[in-house]
Amino acid sequence: MELFSAQSFLLFFLLSLYVYLLFNGTSKKKSINKGFKSYPILGTLPEFWQNRHRFLDWTTETLSSCPTNTAIFRRPGKTGIITANPSNIERMLKTNFENYPKGDRFIALLQDFLGRGIFNSDGELWKVQRKTASYEFNTKSLRNFVMENVTVEINTRLIPILTRASETVRVLDLQDILERFAFDNVCKLAFNVDPGCLGGDGTSGAEFMRAFEDAASLSSGRFMYVIPVMAKINKFLNIGPERRLRNAIKTVHEFADDIIQSRAEQKVEKEADLLSRFMANEENSPEFLRDIVISFILAGRDTTSSALSWFFWLLSSRPEVEQNILQELEKIRVQNGKDIGDSYSFDELREMHYLHAAITEAMRLYPPVPIDSKACLNDDIMPDGTFVKKGWFVSYHTYAMGRMESMWGENCLEFLPERWLENGVCRQESPFRFPVFHAGPRMCLGKDMAYIQMKSIAASVMERFEIEAEDKDKDLDTLLSLTLRIKGGLPVNVRKRSACVDAIN
Ligand code: HEM
Repeated sequence: MELFSAQSFLLFFLLSLYVYLLFNGTSKKKSINKGFKSYPILGTLPEFWQNRHRFLDWTTETLSSCPTNTAIFRRPGKTGIITANPSNIERMLKTNFENYPKGDRFIALLQDFLGRGIFNSDGELWKVQRKTASYEFNTKSLRNFVMENVTVEINTRLIPILTRASETVRVLDLQDILERFAFDNVCKLAFNVDPGCLGGDGTSGAEFMRAFEDAASLSSGRFMYVIPVMAKINKFLNIGPERRLRNAIKTVHEFADDIIQSRAEQKVEKEADLLSRFMANEENSPEFLRDIVISFILAGRDTTSSALSWFFWLLSSRPEVEQNILQELEKIRVQNGKDIGDSYSFDELREMHYLHAAITEAMRLYPPVPIDSKACLNDDIMPDGTFVKKGWFVSYHTYAMGRMESMWGENCLEFLPERWLENGVCRQESPFRFPVFHAGPRMCLGKDMAYIQMKSIAASVMERFEIEAEDKDKDLDTLLSLTLRIKGGLPVNVRKRSACVDAIN
């Protein structure tokens, strides 16, 4: 009996100590504050649990306080590092590229949604997709993309929607509009299909759009399970988010299958567009073609719309930046004998350095892909001395990098396009310091195309309309899906610009 009491007491004491450490940490840990707090068995889990609703900001604060901006993140059954250190990023994305593939875990979590599409494959499967797709991103395709695709969507769909909103004083969700625009655009470019999501009253294609959004956010939610095995259990039982994910994926697959089937029934040239290039290889199964379609929709729909949503929100509270952009546009119009409302050519878009800098600056603060992960194949030592064990994950934190005082100076949190300009020209930054478009052999294929699309939209909208975000003076909540979106959308008021009204009159 006495022995039992002694054991109970000891157990009670140890448990109390553990709970105390769990929720308070040690004062020593608090004062040093280097890296994530780690507890026996549970690792970083308690801190992760407390901060999961503010994951990006919490991890940013932690990395800023680490001497080399790198920290170890432990969860039961899953350990890895998160880094915001350019030298480490160069090693994982370029110099030791072969050692850092996407890895089995990443691929397994996204497999249901993305299959083995370019975003979710390694090795030969990735290489062959990269090579085939890269033909679609040459300068000739880019020029055609501007003239045939972006300009038409702007003039026939986007501007009429904004004009109606300005006349009826209707509040618009600009994020939603931009996603529809980008979706129409990428479908036309990659598969020559016009889903008309932005057409009509702007509600067509709604079911597919919602399903795609759900599939992306629920798939990325699998990475955020506090106890990772719960995702598998939910999937096995087909309950909770996994049930919703299954339904969303079914809708997305049906849409992609329709595109492939109708294309198979047409006689299309082998190199007419991205899909026909992949279909030319008869070994590619319909399921693989479907994976390719979905990856490209994801690449094109969710990235530029995210960047532009944050850009318009930032601009709402920075009238001087807006004026600088308008002045640049006016200068280009005068030089080229154009009026407001005339479309900008590929070369004119390239002259817009201030606008380029402003969009880049928006992406520094709100990168569309804020954090990205790889797996470590063999033990490695990072340039900053961090040891990485075989099987660990390695994430680079683009969002944190954009907010590092050590990299961008004291005003790192300010929206300041000027920091990108040298003698009026937007300067290039090392992709390892600014990995918004990734870096190394897997660098984004669509970077130039994305800038063309974003600059065309921003220029055409800004010279005709004043866009005022309803929440311009509030901090917005972020929604961490596979891309960084604004939680609840971006409600804006749209007014015709007086200079533009004068020009029309
Ligand atoms: C602001 C716009 C964009 C940003 C910030 C962006 C960013 C990125 C990032 C971070 C990756 C690496 C993802 C990973 O593998 O983990 C990536 C890859 C890729 N992006 Fe983009 N992207 C943008 C627009 C586009 C557009 C418009 C397209 C094409 C329509 C595109 C096509 C691709 C493709 C095909 C890859 C895969 C490259 C590979 O794995 O080899 N991107 N992008």
